[in-house]
Amino acid sequence: MRNNLLLILIIPTTILGARYNSHLVRGWSNSDCIRPWQQAIMSKPTLRVPSRAIGCHPDEHDCPAGRNAVCQYSLRSQKYVCCEDKKDADIPTCPKYYETLLLPCGGSSNSQCPRGYRCLGSLGDESIKLCCKLNRTLDYKEPEHTFRENRIVPRLLPIAPEHELIATFNEEQISMGQLFDASVIDKIADPPIMTAGVELQDEKLYTIILVDSTSKDVTWFVANIAAFDGQLEIHKRTKSAVAYQSPASTDSPVGMHIMILALFEQNETWSQKDLTRVSMDDFNFGEWLEQNTHIIQSKPLAATFYGYSTRRDDRKTI
Ligand SMILES: *[C@@H]1O[C@H](CO)[C@@H](O)[C@H](O)[C@H]1NC(C)=O
Ligand SMILES: *[C@@H]1O[C@H](CO)[C@@H](O)[C@H](O)[C@H]1NC(C)=O
Repeated sequence: MRNNLLLILIIPTTILGARYNSHLVRGWSNSDCIRPWQQAIMSKPTLRVPSRAIGCHPDEHDCPAGRNAVCQYSLRSQKYVCCEDKKDADIPTCPKYYETLLLPCGGSSNSQCPRGYRCLGSLGDESIKLCCKLNRTLDYKEPEHTFRENRIVPRLLPIAPEHELIATFNEEQISMGQLFDASVIDKIADPPIMTAGVELQDEKLYTIILVDSTSKDVTWFVANIAAFDGQLEIHKRTKSAVAYQSPASTDSPVGMHIMILALFEQNETWSQKDLTRVSMDDFNFGEWLEQNTHIIQSKPLAATFYGYSTRRDDRKTI
């Protein structure tokens, strides 16, 4: 099977190479790895030999353990090399109800996909084409699927939440991915009331963070929240580390802002010192989680996402 796949991959790409034009394929020439989300596994440099792509043999599974390591032919190096997923790679998947074969395809024919597979645009990014096989019985786990479909996970939030966070703004319960355009921006002027899709534990503490992933700002941050009767105890008097900032139509950049609202379970109490270390602008979820693993668990207990736009939504509805 492995050899068949490699043949399918290599022959058409060398023959059709000149006709290709997608950004995927353009990347191939300056990387050893065919899959754009992968990179070559490099050897350790030594006194005699600098670091270089580790070679392999397609029949011998002799690549070092890595993130989905594969042995594949590099057109650039003209030999087999070991490739692995880049760290935090945004690995594409096929649309819903299609099984994914992580084999890039594209161009004018479907002939590069094995029998039974079609070449389709990936979930959330039409420009990345993959070989996909219809399977109506596939199971999708929510809310993870919706976070991935909207390209929130893993690009903006590294790990999908366990539950959907139910947020109610101004008495309206929002749904994941809802957009508030400039004409209704005042609906989200005040912080939401929230319930997690799970009973909270009264002896634990929780963190709420709201991030504008477009401007990379933390726009609300409440730490050390107690639970009471399984619900979050937030009220007007709860002190926040960052007070809720109402979105405004004058916010920059112009256009759509993607907001991620997440609830984390704490293992430790945030100290004042920990809180001042949180960088509130140029915020990166992955880095923040990595820096604070001693306090919060990296997988959000519950989260949701929504958008607001500084412009009116004048897209035509069908
Ligand atoms: C569809 O997916 C399910 C679940 O992964 C699997 O058990 C089943 O064999 C698949 N069906 C086909 C036709 O591949
Ligand atoms: C935090 O607590 C959870 C269980 O409540 C545990 O699985 C995890 O290992 C803890 N993490 C740290 C860093 O102590």
